[in-house]
Amino acid sequence: MTSKNTIMDSDCMTLTRFMLAEQRKAPIATGDLTQLLNSIQTAIKAVSSAVRKAGIANMYGIAGNTNIQGEEVKKLDILSNELFINMLTSSFTTCVLISEENQHAIEVETEKSGKYVVSFDPLDGSSNIDCLVSVGSIFGIYKKLEQSGNSTLQTALQPGRNLVAAGYALYGSATMIVLSIGQGVNGFTYDPAIGEFILTERDMRMPDRGNIYSINEGNESTWDSSIKEYIRSKKYPATGKPYSARYVGSMVADVHRTIKYGGIFLYPASKSNPNGKLRLLYECVPMAFIVKEAGGLATNGKINILDIVPENIHQRSPIFLGSKDDVNDVMTFIRNKAER
Ligand code: AHG
Ligand code: MN
Ligand code: MN
Repeated sequence: MTSKNTIMDSDCMTLTRFMLAEQRKAPIATGDLTQLLNSIQTAIKAVSSAVRKAGIANMYGIAGNTNIQGEEVKKLDILSNELFINMLTSSFTTCVLISEENQHAIEVETEKSGKYVVSFDPLDGSSNIDCLVSVGSIFGIYKKLEQSGNSTLQTALQPGRNLVAAGYALYGSATMIVLSIGQGVNGFTYDPAIGEFILTERDMRMPDRGNIYSINEGNESTWDSSIKEYIRSKKYPATGKPYSARYVGSMVADVHRTIKYGGIFLYPASKSNPNGKLRLLYECVPMAFIVKEAGGLATNGKINILDIVPENIHQRSPIFLGSKDDVNDVMTFIRNKAER
């Protein structure tokens, strides 16, 4: 019970408590997913602390990027990757890990192996790290395929429809974890005073239409004419107000805003990159799952992102993600062009 006039809620819903409660709803649950998400939570707390440069006085010398022992300070994306890999492998719940930072899928040693496959981008938005703009982490969780004899690679190459859970952490003005285990989306804000993520946004739903478009407009000359025409239609509408442009350059931040305020995030193909830039397994698919669970839509311009069957672990995909009506608008432009 929460008593009035206290500065602390003695009955707050932490992420761990939320997971335990969800676990109880499924009679056959083993608790492995809870344990797995706990290990991700620990990795995220450590990444958040590093992003916020906690302990900076110990990390740096008087100047420069060497620490007091004269060693170069580890780059944040490398540190984040090590944290994710170490926490996940020691959770005894994973068998295969796919990281943006590792060329090959990582096989967890037999003694520590469990039934889940995890794909992750340990630190997303790396070009924003040095100027202190928001960055994030992204993860997707699948189950190992039942049939025996599947290779590590086959186990890793599952379509998004197979996801058990997906989420992201946003290291913004506060640290937040947004998570879906397949029944809606919930947001948990980090409370540094008690070291816990607290449920602050229950059942997040995105608007069916927004008034913001989010794309790297510097690339306009490389877009297909259908994308040029679509963006133009939002900047010079026949009726009503033009859309606003917002582009952080960290997918997690741009997608989080799109979920909160509505609108559309686009990373289309270009002449030199026919598959766009963003990676399917640890950027597009987890985000498509969360957006779907929040009532939105994500497509590669032809099919739903969640229906793509991946052929390799670092495969890229064009992506159009956001409010249903906005994504359908861009699809209409793409289809009309194809029919011309
Ligand atoms: P990462 O830092 O993991 O390599 O990902 C960066 C991605 C993504 O966060 C963002 O949406 C996109 O790159 C921005 O790309 P542009 O600089 O080409 O706009
Ligand atoms: Mn990324
Ligand atoms: Mn990254």
